[in-house]
Amino acid sequence: MIPLMHSPASHAPHNAVWSPPPEEEKNYIKLDQKYLVANRASDFSIYLFVPTRRRFVLFKSEGEPIRPEQLESLTSGGRRPVYVPVEHSTALTYYLSENLTGIVEDASLPLEVKTEEVHTLALTVMKNLFDSPPDMGEFIATATNVSHALADLLTASPLSIGMLNRLRSYDYCTYRHSLNVSVMGVGLFLHLHPGASAVAIHDLTRGLLLHDIGKCDVPRELTNKPGRLTDAEWQIMRSHPIKGYKRLEHDKALSQESHQIALFHHEAVDGSGYPKGIRKNTIPLTSRLCKVVDVYDALTSNRSYKLRMNAFDALVLMTRDMKTQIDQDLLKEFILFLDRMGKLIVRRPL
Ligand SMILES: [Fe+2]
Ligand SMILES: [Fe+2]
Repeated sequence: MIPLMHSPASHAPHNAVWSPPPEEEKNYIKLDQKYLVANRASDFSIYLFVPTRRRFVLFKSEGEPIRPEQLESLTSGGRRPVYVPVEHSTALTYYLSENLTGIVEDASLPLEVKTEEVHTLALTVMKNLFDSPPDMGEFIATATNVSHALADLLTASPLSIGMLNRLRSYDYCTYRHSLNVSVMGVGLFLHLHPGASAVAIHDLTRGLLLHDIGKCDVPRELTNKPGRLTDAEWQIMRSHPIKGYKRLEHDKALSQESHQIALFHHEAVDGSGYPKGIRKNTIPLTSRLCKVVDVYDALTSNRSYKLRMNAFDALVLMTRDMKTQIDQDLLKEFILFLDRMGKLIVRRPL
């Protein structure tokens, strides 16, 4: 898990005596106390590191909510980290996903700060889900918290779409790619349907966020392989749409079309895609939309075997070389959307 502690402890000298020994610290996730909310159920325990005793001390047991006076006692000592045992990381990840709604609804936060906080926390949650997938119910519940918060932010503050795009990292990995595809895909959808209902936007956001969930069932050596896949490995990788759909198909909370994004996002309008080889409008609109942003994000991200393309070259390739595979009407709208976000430099770099 990404340690969610950005600043050093303000009350203590920053040296080895005051820091936990690395061999013990590795058993804990370091967390900024600002992520703790009083009275909310939390299925993880919390420890503090006591420098004078050179050991971790239990602060709150698993299953107990944090009482307001406990939270107060943490804050009164200055801002310092708390520690959660690594074996409680799934519960912590869910808890952090619940924080996202609070951040989005916090009217006191300037939009840039709010967007940055949502970005950091959403990436952490998605990384944890893909690195150590919990059972499917927990996975979907946690991702749903992320997608709801994201959908609410993007709908209430369209400027946040451009801000999130600026915060985008260009190093490809599944959890970052999932967030990028979700943000750009919802942005494109809102560009096409500005009056879309909240239900439709929530539905799409989660469908896009989970479009590559099937990669959890592909061996890690393939998804993380530093280099091109062999033909045999590529065949295994191509199974992720069906594997993803199988994970989602029994989830009743969202629409069938949203689940189908996982199944159909690698189909091509000329029938050359996979897994079914269906064509044109038999591919649902949201899956065709996902393909546009999916390909764009993959081309404009650094891969282990290839440096990223700039936006212009990626769009030329998608318009020219992938003309028969990608829905060109949607691609034209995507280019207009990118232009509107001010992110597209329509000229070749010098
Ligand atoms: Fe995919
Ligand atoms: Fe993808």
